[in-house]
Amino acid sequence: MGPGVLTEILQDLPNVYDPKLIVGFDTSDDACVYRLTDEIAAIHTVDFFTPIVDDPYWFGQIAAANALSDVYAMGGRPAVAMNLLCVPNCLSKETIRKILKGGHDKAVEAGCVIAGGHTIQDQEPKYGLCVTGYVHPDKVLRNVGAQPGDVLVLTKPIGTGVLTTGAKAGLVSDGQYDAMVRCMATLNAKAADKMLECGEIHACTDITGFGLLGHTDEMADGSGVTIRLNSRALPLLSGARELAEMGIIPAGAYRNLDYVKPRLAVAQDVPQFLADLIADPQTSGGLLIALPEGEAVELVERLRSVAASSAIVGAVLPRGDHTVEIV
Ligand code: CO
Ligand code: CO
Repeated sequence: MGPGVLTEILQDLPNVYDPKLIVGFDTSDDACVYRLTDEIAAIHTVDFFTPIVDDPYWFGQIAAANALSDVYAMGGRPAVAMNLLCVPNCLSKETIRKILKGGHDKAVEAGCVIAGGHTIQDQEPKYGLCVTGYVHPDKVLRNVGAQPGDVLVLTKPIGTGVLTTGAKAGLVSDGQYDAMVRCMATLNAKAADKMLECGEIHACTDITGFGLLGHTDEMADGSGVTIRLNSRALPLLSGARELAEMGIIPAGAYRNLDYVKPRLAVAQDVPQFLADLIADPQTSGGLLIALPEGEAVELVERLRSVAASSAIVGAVLPRGDHTVEIV
């Protein structure tokens, strides 16, 4: 389903108000946050998808890392999760076991316990987690709140959509493919730890299917600001640049571009392949963090040991004619 479609459908449903619901669906945030006590709020999120890689063990890890990521993006810690699994008849028990083992191992690494789940038969395999995490109600991070004067830090390189598309055409080397798989399977936990050590975080989200472009648009729109992305500062996965230059762009990137287009300005000297990469849909992408510039420089320094590709990729400006400018 393309960006924005669900928002449109949900408009017809009545909005139920509950004062304990601190974060709901209104600004397309990653997860919902529900206050339990003055000290603890529960974060709920769910994510699952079809295999992005052929290896079932890596697929399980990536699906779990992706599902857990939304808890980190809200400033929280995952606590307990349940498996969501769709399997066709033809899938062997051994393959299913490997998918679940991947998810299990990733959850253990996150300090999160998987307590059961639900499996149904389906023509195409799908896997993911429904995750519950926790956070102090006053320390919830949202995808809105970015302020003029902030800059944006991105903690993982871009290009998983372009690379998985290129891999199907045999255009990706083993080394490039391995690096991409490891990147997708990396938890955002350590990057989130470093982020939480900073004094002042104004907004945070994680980059997934809407690409850097779509998630930046949501952050800018919800924050009432314009965000200027510096295309030359983008951290890229090895091979992504060459594939994008060749025009190996997944359809999702064009959907993302089309969706943001009415609110987007692209400077004339920005190469098309960089604009395409900014729109590239990511699987289990990095955190996108808005914070004051001085703190950001320090954060990137601290991130070096746990998320080496981290970079300052943009700046927050007072709201102009567009939500996103690419320069
Ligand atoms: Co998210
Ligand atoms: Co998500």
